[in-house]
Amino acid sequence: MAYSEKVIDHYSNPKNVGTLDKAKKNVGTGLVGAPECGDVMRLQIEVDETGLITDAKFKTFGCGSAIASSSLATEWLKGKTVDQAVQIDNMDLVEELNLPPVKIHCSVLAEDAIKAAINDYRKKNGLEELVFEEKG
Ligand code: FES
Ligand code: FES
Repeated sequence: MAYSEKVIDHYSNPKNVGTLDKAKKNVGTGLVGAPECGDVMRLQIEVDETGLITDAKFKTFGCGSAIASSSLATEWLKGKTVDQAVQIDNMDLVEELNLPPVKIHCSVLAEDAIKAAINDYRKKNGLEELVFEEKG
């Protein structure tokens, strides 16, 4: 299977790899695993007082498509509001990265990680957690 150029680019030069301070109240952390393959992704967001995502970082122990998906996701997250971030759909990642069908779950992992990070942020700030529809 051939990876698209964008996947290879994000894979060989991933953006925003790293860790934000979990102890901070304005940092949300999402840690998710893919049942399909056991790959694990951690994605974090830092949110300012106006609800704007000022930073995003990830660490992915997984395949090239999962790394590319999380790298791209962190790029998209920065500068969005939390409300806008909720709208990021894994199929947008699939389209942008040109992922083949067997790699769609890698993008689902990224979407799940975003949602988990948002809910962690909400929980830490006394907001009700959002309920998301399960993606397959
Ligand atoms: Fe081995 Fe994803 S299945 S890295
Ligand atoms: Fe499982 Fe990519 S193969 S996350």
